[in-house]
Amino acid sequence: MTAARTVSIAIGDHELAVRALPARDLPFPLFPSMGEYPVYDDLVYDGFDRPDDRLRAYRDAIDDAARGKTVLDVGTGRDALWAVHAARAGARHVFAVEQQPEVADRARQAVAAAGLTNRITVLEELSTEVVLPEPAQVCISEIVGNIASAEGAIAALGDARNRLCTPDCAWIPFRIQTWAAAVDLSGRRAALATESLPYVKQIFNAVGHPFDLRLCLGGPAETLPVSSAAAVESIVFDHRRDPPAPDATSTVELTVEAPASRVTGLMLWPRVAVAPQRPEIDTLTGNTRGWAPIYAPLSPGGFPVRPGDTLTVTFERTTSNDGLHPDYRLSVTRPGTTTEPATWTSPHHSEDFRTTPLHRDLFPAS
Ligand SMILES: C[S@@+](CC[C@H](N)C(=O)[O-])C[C@H]1O[C@@H](n2cnc3c(N)ncnc32)[C@H](O)[C@@H]1O
Repeated sequence: MTAARTVSIAIGDHELAVRALPARDLPFPLFPSMGEYPVYDDLVYDGFDRPDDRLRAYRDAIDDAARGKTVLDVGTGRDALWAVHAARAGARHVFAVEQQPEVADRARQAVAAAGLTNRITVLEELSTEVVLPEPAQVCISEIVGNIASAEGAIAALGDARNRLCTPDCAWIPFRIQTWAAAVDLSGRRAALATESLPYVKQIFNAVGHPFDLRLCLGGPAETLPVSSAAAVESIVFDHRRDPPAPDATSTVELTVEAPASRVTGLMLWPRVAVAPQRPEIDTLTGNTRGWAPIYAPLSPGGFPVRPGDTLTVTFERTTSNDGLHPDYRLSVTRPGTTTEPATWTSPHHSEDFRTTPLHRDLFPAS
């Protein structure tokens, strides 16, 4: 087993020690969840262009909904993918909103290259600050995080519903969920992938300080669940229903499956229902690289379980002080004990740092 190396990254004026190894030396390399921070680069946007389940599902849904309609594309990205597709599918006009100025510039170039400048207007703003000349009849977005709500979809699309869309607007996607299952990573080496360190640095610098990063798992994560799976959040965008609540708590039960004997944490991943008559995207088992499952560590060596045990999982979502991105908390009962539930807290940008054994291991204090 190659030991993780300690390297140093610059955060502001400080050097921070990080334990990392190249991804190829780790069965399940850890890397930060990125979509909820402004750290997208060409490598990330190249991933969105792949002809995978995500691209196909969105294009099919847009083909079904856009003809003759005024369309809003929230978070159009570098290539204005959905805006261009909607215009080609016959949308009357598309308003494509992008919060990152340099990305909005690139989106404008993509729209010009497609010869669609008269049908698509790129607006360089956060959607919650934009004003449209007319309400949109179709709202397209792919601001679905590795925890579905993590990129601010509830607040941003709630605002779009109130201010930017018609009362009978069609929503693409119309439902996003986060699923959870127990996993056992005991005996596996935990380190950040060296390749992800530039993103770790950018996230800490964007937030202004290090904090307990939300971590994703690379490798064949679909092989890891040792329990049944259940949805801990299910967010439906539909004008006939109440808007999704920004803050919410849910409780689900997971059944431990053979031959599990320990649980070290939960894995969380999104499912995206793009259009009612189209197949849902299961980001864990489907063919897409647009997302990666989150690892929520609960117990470094794992707590004992037996097949058939029930784990009661409580999932809490609370809007952080930026008004957009949620903080999360999980608590999980340990079968057969009266010990306090195991917990995981995952703030979007609080100053909590090295509060978990895993984060203390990944970021050793010198
Ligand atoms: C996951 S990428 C998706 C890009 C493209 N729509 C696609 O699906 O390939 C999300 C993009 O939305 C932008 N974004 C996220 N929330 C936004 C908001 N509320 N308003 C404007 N842009 C947003 C991000 O900067 C990023 O470029």
